[in-house]
Parts: sequence; C-alpha cells; structure tokens
Amino acid sequence: MVDVEKIKTITVVGAGTMGHGIAEVAAIAGYNVYLVDINKEILDNAIEKIKWSLQKLSEKGMLRDSVDTVLSRIKTVVNLDEQGNYTQEFAEVLKKTDFMIEAIIERLDLKQKLFAFADEHAPEHAILATNTSSLPITEIASATKRPEKVVGMHFFNPPPLMPLVEVIKGEKTSDETVQVTVALAKKFGKQPVVVKKDVPGFIVNRILGRFLNTGCHIVAKGLATIEEVDATVKYVLGLPMGIFELSDYSGIDVFYYVFQAMRERGFKITPCPLYEEKFKKGEYGMKTGKGFYTYPAPGKYVRPNIPKDLAGKIDPVLLLAPAVNEAAWLLRNDVATKEDIDKAVKLGLGWPKGVFEFADEYGIDKIVEALRKLKEELGLEEMEPDPLLVEMVEKGLLGRKTGKGFYEYGEVEEIKKKTIIIRKEKPIAWIILNRPKRLNALSPELLKELGEALDELEEDNDVRVVILKGEGRAFSAGADVTAFAGVTPIDVAKFSRKFQELTLKIQFYTKPVIAALHGYVLGGGLELAMSTDIRIAAEGTMLGQPEINLGFIPGAGGTQRLPRLIPKGHAKLLIYTGDMIPAEEAAKLGLVEKVVPLERLEQEARALALKLAEKPPLALMAAKYAVEYGLESNIWAGLALEAHLFGLLFSTEDVIEGVTAFLEKRKPKFKGR
Ligand code: NAI
Repeated sequence: MVDVEKIKTITVVGAGTMGHGIAEVAAIAGYNVYLVDINKEILDNAIEKIKWSLQKLSEKGMLRDSVDTVLSRIKTVVNLDEQGNYTQEFAEVLKKTDFMIEAIIERLDLKQKLFAFADEHAPEHAILATNTSSLPITEIASATKRPEKVVGMHFFNPPPLMPLVEVIKGEKTSDETVQVTVALAKKFGKQPVVVKKDVPGFIVNRILGRFLNTGCHIVAKGLATIEEVDATVKYVLGLPMGIFELSDYSGIDVFYYVFQAMRERGFKITPCPLYEEKFKKGEYGMKTGKGFYTYPAPGKYVRPNIPKDLAGKIDPVLLLAPAVNEAAWLLRNDVATKEDIDKAVKLGLGWPKGVFEFADEYGIDKIVEALRKLKEELGLEEMEPDPLLVEMVEKGLLGRKTGKGFYEYGEVEEIKKKTIIIRKEKPIAWIILNRPKRLNALSPELLKELGEALDELEEDNDVRVVILKGEGRAFSAGADVTAFAGVTPIDVAKFSRKFQELTLKIQFYTKPVIAALHGYVLGGGLELAMSTDIRIAAEGTMLGQPEINLGFIPGAGGTQRLPRLIPKGHAKLLIYTGDMIPAEEAAKLGLVEKVVPLERLEQEARALALKLAEKPPLALMAAKYAVEYGLESNIWAGLALEAHLFGLLFSTEDVIEGVTAFLEKRKPKFKGR
C-alpha cells in the first residue's frame, strides 16, 4: 500500500529536455530529488538550466521558496560506469526511492534494461513511472516483477510551465498505482488526466496527430493553402498556433518520429506527403531556418506571417472533424472520460475549448458530414465517422442546437408565433423572421411580434445574446409594401415611427444582437440589420436601400444609420441609386463585419454568440452603451459616460470573478451581477 503522503524521495532518470524540467517541478513541490544521467557534463548542464528556470520563476513571484532552497533538494547521480554498466551508487539511490520517473531516450530496449535494474533495487513500495511519449507502458512494465506498480506519467514540454500530465494505465497497472500517481501529479501542482488504456499516443498525441495530418492532407491535395489553413486554425478556431506554424515551431522531425512510432504500434494514420518531403529535405522548421515557413536563421524564431483575412477560406469543421472523430474513438473505447479528453486538449494543446465542446458547438451532424466529405475528397479510409458519432446523429444528439450532444445544455425551446420563431438555445436565442414565401417582408404584425419577442428575451437572464435571421431564401426583402395600399400619409408616418422605435430598441438593447444575413437584405431588412451590433453575411447576399425606385426614401432609419456605418458619399450613392451591393463589397465598406459561405452562416453566428455569451453581461452592456450613446453625443459626454460605467463595473461581482479567474489561470464564470 503506497500513500502519496509517504512519498518523500523522487528519482528522475534522464536529465535531458524533459528530465531536468520534471526534476525541477518535483523539487519546487518540496520533494528530495535524485537527478540521474549517464555523465557529469549532462547533469551539470541540467542543473544550470534548472537554476536559470528557477530564477525566472522567482522573478515572476511564482516560487514559494528561494532558488537555493529548491536547488538544494536536487542531488545529481551518474548511473553508468566506463563499461556502460549501472553503478553501485545508482543502486543505492534506487534503494531510497519512493517514486521513480524515467525520462531517458525513447528506446524500448534501454528503458526495459533500466526498469529491470530499478525493479531489482527499489523498495517494494516504489512506483516506477515512465515519461515515454510513444512506447507501450505494458512492454516497459514487462521487464519488471512489479508491473502493477509501473505506470505512464507523461509530462508536456516544458514541464514547469505545462499544467497537463497524462497518467497512463498499462495492462497490469493497479488502480492504486494510478491513484497515487494522480495524487502526486496534483502535489506537483499539475492537472492530471487518466488514460485508462495503453493506446499509442494516449490522448493528446492522437488528437494532435489527426489534427495536424488533416490540415497537411488538405494542403497536399490543393484544397487550401498553408496560410489559409493556419489562419483558419488561429483566427476562426482560436487555437494558439496554426497547424504548420506549430509543426515548424516544435520541429517537423519531432512529429515525424512520434507519429511514426504511433503508427508502428497500430495507430491508423496515413502519413501526409508534405511532412515526408520536409523531413527528407531536412527542413525541420524553426531549428533549421526553414520548414513550411522561412526563418531569418536556424534557431531564430519569428512568428510567420499568417494573414488574418485568409481565415475561414477553408471550412474549420473540415479541420476539426478528424480530431473529434479520434476523441469519439477514445470515448467509445473507454480510454478516457469526455471531461478528461477535453481537459487534455485544453491544457496540453492550449485549445480554447475542448474537442467535444467544439463538436457540440458546430453540430455533430456537421462533423459527420465533414468526415464523409474528407473521406471522399482525400480518399482516406481513416476519415470514416466513428460509430459513436453516427449513432448520435441518428438519435438527434447534435450538440448545442438540440440541447444535447456530448454534454447537456438544457432544453431547446422553440416558440412559433405567426410571423416569427423564437428559439432559445441557452445562453443564446434566435429570432427567426418566418414569412419565407414573402421573403420575410416586414409587416406591422411581424414588427409587433419582433418587438414583443425582444422584450421577453430581455427579461430572460439565461439568454445572453440574441441572433436575428431569416427563414427561407432571404433575411428580409424589406417592408411589406402591400400593407401600404390605400393608407394615408399619416398612417405611413406612424408605421415609420413604429419601425424606428423597434430599431432603437435593438440599438439600445441591453444584450448584444447579431444579424445573420443571407439572400436579400433590402430596405427595411437592411434598416433592421443596421440597428444590430454585428452583421455576419453569407457570400452572395445582396444589400441595398431600393426605396428611391418606388418614389420614396428609407423610412426606418436608413438615412441615419447608413451614413453612420459607412462613408457619407457611399451611403448617398446607395440611397440615391437604390442599387444593391454584394456582401463582399458591403464588408469592404464596413456595412457587414464578416462574410462566410452560406452553409456556415448559422454556425458562425452561433460561435460568435456563444463567445459573447461567455463575457460578463454587464460589461457588454456598458460597452454597448458607451459606444452607442457616445457616438450620438460628443466626446465630453461620451468620455464621461465611459468613466462612469468603468467605475460602476467595479462594484460588480463579475469583476471580482474576472480578476480571480485571471490570477488562478482558469476560465471565468460570469453571472451578470
Ligand atoms: P533527451 O534526449 O533530451 O534526454 C534524454 C536524456 O536521457 C539524455 O540526457 C540522455 O543522456 C539520458 N539517458 C539516456 N540513456 C540513459 C540511461 N540509461 N540512464 C540515464 N540517462 C540516460 O530526450 P527528452 O526529449 O527529454 O525525452 C525523454 C523522454 O521523454 C522520452 O521517452 C520522450 O518520449 C519523452 N517525452 C518527450 C517530450 C518532449 O517534448 N521532448 C514530451 C513528453 C515526453
């Protein structure tokens, strides 16, 4: 019986890239550490690196004890004699060891030899862990007589900074060993995840492998360029680095070897020709000065130029789907829990969301569709959707949009009115203009229902963001002119006022409103859209104020909001000519914020709404008010309002939560209080 509290002495074998960092982590946590390597130079070098790193941590106030105190806990040991045999000194150290972490080079024969020796000399209670990235824990354990006490403890580089540790159960590893290793990882200040089966690549490298390989195959096949893939990964998915950027940064050779080792152990992945090519040419990335991008000199890193305007040129779901597929495989085969898989990609790869969280957001149906498309276009069998995903689609467990996917989000509520549909997918809500046969012409009834829906959603604290969109072929082709037949000019003026009131309601609404535009956005349709906070348009959407052609002018704010959004001359041009412009041109003028392919309109609007829904609601409201009221006033009034709102926010609970979460390096949970 091993108790984590009884662990006092930790022996780290191998003092290279990983070993010295692991020793540092253990010493910071207060353990006596033996750091072992084959010669004194390597060990001296390792101690120098640890010292440098401790000094950095100390300067940042991240070290409880002094640098010297921490360093004094680490003793170095040379374990090979001149004949290449293990030394007596090493045997003595092992006798005092409660927990060994092996981080020597990635060779099974050497690891087995080391484990056999450690097994012989370490006390019975000692756990023997390996930091291997790609070798089976089970095979390493087989060299010992205590396979139940051999476990994988996979750190990420650099260990002092990376919070994730994968704890891997070999075939014979006992639950107790896993528990103690998990507990020790926590004592190290790390966040462990449990890998319940000894599969090649564990969690992170499998998912990373799929992700990198897919981006690479897509480029190899000519479906997108390197920059388009990387821009989409960074700016649409919000990952810290693009696929090729990361490959260059970490070293194409490193990935090449890891994935090759995983393949040799049965991980079914088709090597991407581009990686092979780079590897063979010795163009490993930053370290050689050239990889997918070019660097000023070998080892000299500058961020590659990845233009933001290329983001979204490739459907992000295509890039994401194989990673989701892999994660589904892990889940279905009970390798890890969905929470641990999501935690692993967030902490190990720096993803802003877990792979299942992403899947739920984009929709499991879209993931399966993307996999089928990839399978066909790339001709890769491995893209076959996992049975778990197919089953989820059959059962209608599509993610956020149905209220349940990998996670539960609460009921999706759909309320059908005469002219609109209200869809609550908490924390967001959709208002869908629903007169498709009339291209969602804005009748007095529709405006009334829309106003009432907004009032109701404003009261609902669980709804943080509202999206407006149109059913059928258009967002809205404008006001319903048939309603004008036989009415007096006074009636029309009243209609105009009513409509204007609605646009003001949206402009000064207490929650962000997003417009998802497609087809036609004309006349009143455009005026409605212009009163929202952010407009996302599908490619090919036509926008305009065609009223002039009928003998009148825009009457629901068009003459006021259009020149506030785009340069005055352009606004007049649109209003005077009544001409329509495509979304792409509207984007250049600043009339829409983003243009996306039609099939991605809903997903993009949802992703943005969910992103905003995570922000503090009161601060969002304050920001909106400062901008809207400020722009309608003057700089003195605007700045005074800003200062007051700024001050006021410091009385909210959300500010405390925001600052606390920042210090604790976790995601804040804002309540709007
Ligand atoms: P490295 O090559 O930087 O360091 C390995 C060290 O082990 C060297 O200093 C070498 O002299 C020493 N060594 C070799 N045989 C030894 C023996 N019999 N006894 C004592 N020391 C011995 O390698 P690195 O990158 O630190 O990798 C070590 C292990 O960690 C590998 O199993 C690797 O798969 C794993 N790993 C590596 C990561 C990385 O990003 N580099 C990440 C996570 C795991």
